[in-house]
Amino acid sequence: MSNRMWGGRFASGPAEIMEEINASIGFDKRLAPQDIRGSLAHVAMLGQAGILPAEDVAAIEAGLKSVRDEIEAGRFVFKRELEDIHMSVESRLTEIVGPAAGRLHTARSRNDQVATDMKLWVRDTLDSLDQQAADLQRALAETALKHAGTVMPGFTHLQSAQPVTFGHHCLAYVEMLARDRGRFRDARARLNECPLGAAALAGTSFPIDRHATAAALGFDRPTANSLDSVADRDFALESLAAASICAVHLSRFAEELVVWTSAQFNFVRLSDGFTTGSSIMPQKRNPDAAELVRAKSGRIIGALTGLLIVMKGLPLAYSKDMQEDKEGTFDALQALSLCLAALTGMVKDLEPNAAVLSQAAGSGYATATDLADWLVRELGLPFRQAHHVTGRLVGAASAKGIGLEDLSLPEMQEAEPRITEAVYAVLGVANSVASRTSYGGTAPDNVRQQAQGWIERLA
Ligand code: ARG
Repeated sequence: MSNRMWGGRFASGPAEIMEEINASIGFDKRLAPQDIRGSLAHVAMLGQAGILPAEDVAAIEAGLKSVRDEIEAGRFVFKRELEDIHMSVESRLTEIVGPAAGRLHTARSRNDQVATDMKLWVRDTLDSLDQQAADLQRALAETALKHAGTVMPGFTHLQSAQPVTFGHHCLAYVEMLARDRGRFRDARARLNECPLGAAALAGTSFPIDRHATAAALGFDRPTANSLDSVADRDFALESLAAASICAVHLSRFAEELVVWTSAQFNFVRLSDGFTTGSSIMPQKRNPDAAELVRAKSGRIIGALTGLLIVMKGLPLAYSKDMQEDKEGTFDALQALSLCLAALTGMVKDLEPNAAVLSQAAGSGYATATDLADWLVRELGLPFRQAHHVTGRLVGAASAKGIGLEDLSLPEMQEAEPRITEAVYAVLGVANSVASRTSYGGTAPDNVRQQAQGWIERLA
């Protein structure tokens, strides 16, 4: 049997394998709520514009609502021969309301329909990702406030660099997430133009009111060019790009959690709720959730590169290639949602190991810069010379296998005779972090203030 929706000029139906490669219903059925919303807006407009008689509009509206009920109740039977969600809904509508259902597709095409459905889905998803990212920011800001004065080593090149506070480290991710949320909102603002009514590619001869359907669906305006309307997948690409950057941020944090929970670092403890045991090694507490957050960034970035490659060679306007936008977009944005939720859970339960962190903060000559700064401030040495003197002292301490603070005053004075007892104060990690009061610096007072500010803004 040829296809009921478009089979007029076909003598026979598609080959089995054609049906398999062609059908998208297996994954686009999740667009059912958006598809029905779009159809309701479209048919109401057709009625208002006098294109369809009121009784057909009423019948179609009632029919669409019962299709929606059937789908929500899980009573709807999806059939592969109906290809996609658009034809599945329309076919069932025909069974329910009869031939009037055929009038719903006046002045539209599946090309503008699918673009509209996808935009609605992506828009809702961006909104909920924004909320989830805010939840993670809140958890991080609260941890930051609690640990504004908990010192830890700050790293560059993963080498001990200068002491920082645990709260400061948490707030770094709050900032990254703020930019991620900005990108979600930018993508949302740019996508919020309605393609419906562009029809197949050229617009329509019916006197439709595209501004009305755009408004009914919460779009700011209709898209301005009918070719672009059906050919554009920027909104998916841009959302995936924003998601990829966010996923990279989450992955970096996850990587830190994996490293920090190792026995060798022992910087933090994840709760039992976010660790797993080993079936053979009883001592193990594996940070699986963090590892998976790290790993899922791979499929999110993969979805972005995959869709970029699908789109890059397509002539205008619609090509069936674009059906391949869906699985990657759904999967990637869902994966990001899961990562945000898992990381929020981990952060809420996280316990920094303050004693180990403080010990580690002082190791690796992490206060060498404080010593150099002291030489500049107190003795008036040019910074380059202070750097050199400090380097000699680090060399002397390291040769003896001791810390900078363990060098005696005479040993210090061999490198620079004017050094006094007062230097020892800056060699302690607490003093070191407390002195970093420049705007955005790690001083506990700064961190406390910024954490408080975030908590208020996020409330
Ligand atoms: N399932 C299709 C998609 O997702 C819908 C649009 C089909 N349009 C067409 N002219 N065949 O892209």
